[in-house]
Amino acid sequence: MRNLAFDKIVNKQNKLPSDYVPDDLVNTDENEDNFHQYMNPSLKPQISASILPFFTEMQKAAEKEGLYIIIDSGYRSYEYQQRVFNQKVEELGYELALKYAALPGESEHQTGYAFDVASFRNGKYFENKEDDEKEIVWMMKNCYKYGFILRYPKGKEEITGFNYEPWHYRFVGKELAKYLTENHLTMEEYKKLDKRSSD
Ligand code: DAL
Ligand code: ZN
Repeated sequence: MRNLAFDKIVNKQNKLPSDYVPDDLVNTDENEDNFHQYMNPSLKPQISASILPFFTEMQKAAEKEGLYIIIDSGYRSYEYQQRVFNQKVEELGYELALKYAALPGESEHQTGYAFDVASFRNGKYFENKEDDEKEIVWMMKNCYKYGFILRYPKGKEEITGFNYEPWHYRFVGKELAKYLTENHLTMEEYKKLDKRSSD
């Protein structure tokens, strides 16, 4: 069962209501350090239960290659996203913050289908931010096999509305993930093409 946000593209033009909360959230890692401690250190990362098997399958495949990929930030409530955004404004100022963090209602973290990855190395959690880190290199190459896409690729900033984020992935299903990856398409570009073909 998928929650209501599955078929939705969520971005600066397509918002979720402030009271939208997926009804199938599950914790992903009870031990995680949670880099997002500024809200509530006891909160653990959550995603839609429907994508947990896909994530676990991907995690196990990475583990076979000695890589330990975890979810650092999964579902974020509307209120939490406001905090994330405010924090970016404090760091960078309003205009720049818009490129790094979504306004509440405009973040696909609210869907339960998107997450930021981190890694676990030598008994410690690492927040992966660079695209030459081995876990990120692996994710970018392999995530589509498990139904995920790199949501904010390099060179598509004008289309997605966000800077390149090598750590942020979204579940779209295996078939679509393969198609988008092979054709270097973002969800925004795909939705446009899809609309044209159904007109
Ligand atoms: N960093 C992404 C765009 C978000 O805040 O949802
Ligand atoms: Zn993210």
